[in-house]
Amino acid sequence: MKTLLITGGAGFIGSHLVRFMVNKYPEYRIINLDKLTYAGNLENLRDVEEKENYLFVKTDINDADAVQKVFDEFDISGVIHLAAESHVDRSITNPTEFIYTNIVGTINLLNAARHQWKDKPEEHLFYHVSTDEVYGSLGDTGLFTEATAYDPRSPYSASKASSDHLVRAYFHTFKLPVVISNCSNNYGGYQFPEKLIPLMIHNISNNKPLPVYGKGLNVRDWLYVDDHTSAIDLIFHKGTLGETYNIGGNNEWTNIDLVNLLCRIMDEKLGHPEGTSEKLITYVTDRAGHDLRYAIDSSKLQNELGWEPSLQFNEGLEKTVEWYLANEGWLNNVTSGDYQKYYDNMYKNR
Ligand code: NAD
Ligand code: DAU
Repeated sequence: MKTLLITGGAGFIGSHLVRFMVNKYPEYRIINLDKLTYAGNLENLRDVEEKENYLFVKTDINDADAVQKVFDEFDISGVIHLAAESHVDRSITNPTEFIYTNIVGTINLLNAARHQWKDKPEEHLFYHVSTDEVYGSLGDTGLFTEATAYDPRSPYSASKASSDHLVRAYFHTFKLPVVISNCSNNYGGYQFPEKLIPLMIHNISNNKPLPVYGKGLNVRDWLYVDDHTSAIDLIFHKGTLGETYNIGGNNEWTNIDLVNLLCRIMDEKLGHPEGTSEKLITYVTDRAGHDLRYAIDSSKLQNELGWEPSLQFNEGLEKTVEWYLANEGWLNNVTSGDYQKYYDNMYKNR
């Protein structure tokens, strides 16, 4: 039996990936390694926790000994590394946390894998999940390709860029078998409501202001989370060692157009008169160093491995809204306590 270690499996993308892998590959043992920070929630995986091929280990990737212990205990054949501090705004308030988890945490995993796999590295794989934000910010035209020079501009993206460089360095220096993907903005169920789409859905449901940063003209390329998961599966099984693959939705939206679309979908679903939610839109102080535009060229992944996104944006967004409306209990649980303090603090002076 192959044992696959997925880090950050209790988070947004990680929980979708764990569920997908547990169900698709009953012959694999899937170990979910997660510290359970504010963003990690085992409720996300309730439907797979009883499965025989699933195991959760609560571990902090910043703790090198604890990480090594997991590698000593289980015969891990592959790692898919997602554990990270992932929210740009938090990286502006508290950059240091991002350096520990995203850089030191990654090198702890690389060291443990290198040590454990030294006899037969070719039978293993370290897959590092990264972001398009490492490429910096685009102007009105152009797309990020795998050859675009790194130009990270927030503490979050700088820490992710650093981890990407370390993963490549371990490939070149120590011949550790690695692969990297850089993906655009994901959306879907189970996303922590500090991120744009679930935050807006939650605020509309509670008749709260919708805080749009700056003029709302920044552009993001949105991809349904299960399409990211299917790309990871493909790259993990068929990707070329040492290579990088960009993943994106070819689906660019300005924030304000996206929020307007969400408002229309929410009005319809909640039976409110058209225009009700749009009245909640409030322009607030911009994010410091706010990257203008991200857009991904994923033709390498499409041409070499045959991947393509499965959902049109309207369909995916509607599905997402329906998920949050049907899972109000989940939203209320994650928005109580610490998150409420974070929210009050983040938006009080905007
Ligand atoms: P998330 O914040 O929802 O989840 C992160 C998970 O990592 C949580 O379960 C958390 O408990 C865990 N974690 C954090 N620190 C840890 C530590 N020290 N030890 C062990 N576990 C720890 O993040 P996400 O949005 O699901 O993103 C997952 C990965 O994908 C990240 O590496 C992120 O950079 C990358 N990514 C995200 C997006 C996106 O749009 N969300 C896009 C591209 C790439
Ligand atoms: O591009 C991939 C990245 O996408 C991932 O690496 C990150 O982990 C993920 O958080 C996401 O980063 P963004 O900063 O693009 O996502 P966020 O949802 O925070 O913001 C999306 C856009 O919406 C961005 O331009 C900022 C804006 N925004 C965000 C929030 C939370 C607002 O206007 N108002 C808000 O309240």
